[in-house]
This record gives sequence, structure tokens and C-alpha cells, in this order.
Amino acid sequence: MKLLIEGKAKKIFSTKEKNTLVQYFKDDATAFNNKKRKQFKSKGILNNSISALIFKYLNENRIKTHFIKKISEREQIIKKVKIIPLEVVVRNYSAGSISDKFKIKQGKKFKEPIIEFFLKSDELNDPFMNSAHIKLLNIATAKEIRYLRKLALKINVLLIKLFSKIGIILVDFKLEFGKSNNAIILADEISPDNCRLWDKKSKLSLDKDLFRHDKGNLINAYEYIHTKLNRKLNV
Ligand code: TMP
Ligand code: ASP
Repeated sequence: MKLLIEGKAKKIFSTKEKNTLVQYFKDDATAFNNKKRKQFKSKGILNNSISALIFKYLNENRIKTHFIKKISEREQIIKKVKIIPLEVVVRNYSAGSISDKFKIKQGKKFKEPIIEFFLKSDELNDPFMNSAHIKLLNIATAKEIRYLRKLALKINVLLIKLFSKIGIILVDFKLEFGKSNNAIILADEISPDNCRLWDKKSKLSLDKDLFRHDKGNLINAYEYIHTKLNRKLNV
């Protein structure tokens, strides 16, 4: 296996097969565009399992994704795709950057989900983009942007339902998509690293905000999410 890309929380390796890759989950956590960094022992193991459970659930619910199979503690086989350099954020409640930007109190439920696009660029600090910007930079066509929105909303409905069943509010999350044979499919990972997950009763964070704002034990929270999802989905 040859290392192709090393990101902040994952590594991507080639495989013998031309159409697949290995996605490897590291223990590193970063926040605020790499300004804050820390390692959490076994975070990668938990995120590999959590993401595998969620992608399997999405695959079973007719969402096309890059996920094929978990093959070890930290590795999963994925379809090779060309990543669309967008972070597609879906928000159901106010929190994080939207609360800061517009001075909206955290935890307000939106009448309908809000979708935001950001350019994937560490150099530019992931700037916000609208459809015109996406078209201007030839990242996606108008039709593709409509499709990305539709898919993101569909995934949102499925994830809200899943997390609700385990007593968790899906506040917001980030998706990445890729192209494989000209079809757009879900890529990257879905884990507490890129979602905001609040306990329904206590409203306490069970995600990377624990690290961003030094609010509590990250591994305990990720373990809790993993146990609950595993119990719900792996029966
Ligand atoms: P934000 O409130 O900081 O814009 O984040 C919205 C959601 O997107 C939150 O669940 C965290 C996730 N996210 C990432 O996964 N990667 C990122 O680089 C950013 C900025 C947010
Ligand atoms: N993951 C991003 C970073 O490392 C930002 C974040 O999630 O807060 O900069």
C-alpha cells in the first residue's frame, strides 16, 4: 500500500485494485484551521467504526457512498472518487459559526435546514461560497449544485432519524462528495469530528466541540456514540 494523501485526521492509501483505496483514521484532532491540535488515544478506532456504521446505514437507505467495508481497527476500503472541493454543511439548530456570525443564540431550531457551502482550502481558511462562486471556479454546475443540496437534505432526514432513536439531537454536520464515473456520491467520513451532537435531555455536547472549547472528555463521548449506534444498527 502506498500513502497517497495525509490529511489532518485521515490518511489515504492505494490498494492493488485500481478502483479502490484504503481510508485510515488517525488519532489527531485539529480545530480552528489547525491552530489547535491534540491527539486522543483511540479516536481513530472509534471514528472508523462510527463512520462505517453510518455509511452502511446510508448505503442501506439508497444513498450512494464511497464506503465498501471496514477491514481493520483503523481502516476501511472505499471507492476511489475525485473529491469535489466543497464542505457541504447542513444545520438544523444554531451553533458554531452561524451563531457567531449573526449573533444567534445557540440551540435555536431552524424552521427548515440551512445548507452552506465552503471551499475546501486550508490556505484560504475554507471561505464561504454561494452557487455563483461555485460555478465561477468551475467546481460544480448549477445542476450538480441542485443535486448536492437534494442529497444533503436526504442524508439529513436519515441522520436526524437515526440519532433521534439514540437520544441525540443532530445540530449540524459537514459532508464531502466525490465523483466516480461522473456520478456524485458521498465520500469522506461522518463522525463526531464533523457533526455537532447534543444529548436530547442534558443538551451536552458529544462531539469535537468538547476539544474545540475544552468542555469535557472527548473519548468518553465518542465511545458513548459508538456504543449507542452499534446497539441500534448492529443487531
Ligand atoms: P461551523 O459551525 O464551525 O461552521 O461548523 C459546522 C459543522 O461542520 C460542525 O458540525 C463542524 C463541521 N465542520 C467540519 O467538519 N470541518 C470544518 O472544517 C468546519 C469549519 C466545520
Ligand atoms: N477541522 C477543521 C480544522 O482542523 C476545523 C474545525 O473542525 O473546527 O481546522
